[in-house]
Amino acid sequence: MADVVLGIETSCDETSAAVLVAGSAGGNGGAPELASLVILSQDVHKVFGGVVPELASRAHLAALPAVVDRALAEAGLGLGAVDAVAVTAGPGLVGALIVGVVYAKALAYGGDRALIGVHHMEGHVFAPALEDPSLTPPFVALLVSGGHTLLLDVPEWGRYRLLGQTRDDAAGEAFDKVATLLGLGYPGGPAIERLAREGDPTRFRFPRPMKDEGLEFSFSGLKTSVLHAVRASNDLDRDRAHLARGFQDAVLDVLVTKLERAVRGAGYRTAVLGGGVACSRALAQLATERLSGTARVVVASPRLNADNAAMIARAGWFRLARGERSDWTLDARADLPLPGLEPTPHSPLTSHHSPPS
Ligand code: KG4
Ligand code: ZN
Repeated sequence: MADVVLGIETSCDETSAAVLVAGSAGGNGGAPELASLVILSQDVHKVFGGVVPELASRAHLAALPAVVDRALAEAGLGLGAVDAVAVTAGPGLVGALIVGVVYAKALAYGGDRALIGVHHMEGHVFAPALEDPSLTPPFVALLVSGGHTLLLDVPEWGRYRLLGQTRDDAAGEAFDKVATLLGLGYPGGPAIERLAREGDPTRFRFPRPMKDEGLEFSFSGLKTSVLHAVRASNDLDRDRAHLARGFQDAVLDVLVTKLERAVRGAGYRTAVLGGGVACSRALAQLATERLSGTARVVVASPRLNADNAAMIARAGWFRLARGERSDWTLDARADLPLPGLEPTPHSPLTSHHSPPS
């Protein structure tokens, strides 16, 4: 088992490295502790209003060695202390992923270290465990980011059943597109959340797509409704905050309604929020309110919800501890399938789960 894992994340526009070390309890029983986390957010995309893949790859290439060095320095360790490297192998922008994967392979090969490729969304599942070592499955995870909206049944670490996903836009993507409609910058989520605090929730009531049935999501129609409202407004400066509030209320209402439905259907007592949209305090607050008495809502702090290498190191730690290793054929895959994803023959709403032993 590894005692010091270096994590590397370059799937989108954050260049990040982290060092995770065996907990003071030692051995397999001790939860790993985060010794350092460095996240460099690429500014270059701001002017384009979205991530430009080629520029992301180049920026990762320029920054990654320094980001890794900084993470090691902040952990007070030299490269010699690292015995395994965990790297995001997908999904994400393939050119950006390749930079991290190649660098990780070189570090592993050059130092005879273990290598483990990590699925980016599995990283998001593990993020809250960094701060709350008592977190244990079973739980339902709502993973909401710029590229994904996933409801997962997690009966035990490393096993997943897909309960629902988006049929069109991801939740974060909807935030980003609506932010553009409102003339706010990229990324849009934080700007919308800030503005929504000043908005009147009764001014604009937007539809709640697919709210009343099932566990699937759809956000593109909602985005179109906001577009119509923006066009119909004769004073966008006056309406902007109200529009942001109306939109945010609609998205969060749908997300939390589905989360609650999934948690009740599974009969679990824990719900996990993860991914960049889980940085939204409004989301965490609404989920905690609506699930009170039903389930504990666990959400990591914002720097661990947005893309970061600590979550990659943590998911890698789990897989390394089980004896898993990647070999030198490890490659970046834009469409990497989630490991441990099981087919779902019955919806948890219609079948009873036996509690995992
Ligand atoms: O997980 P993440 O950092 O990157 C991806 O893997 O996509 O998620 C980024 C997404 C962006 O769409 C951003 O607008 C959204 O997370 N986001 C938020 C908030 N902070 C970030 N959305 C809503 N409210 C927020 N406070
Ligand atoms: Zn992410």
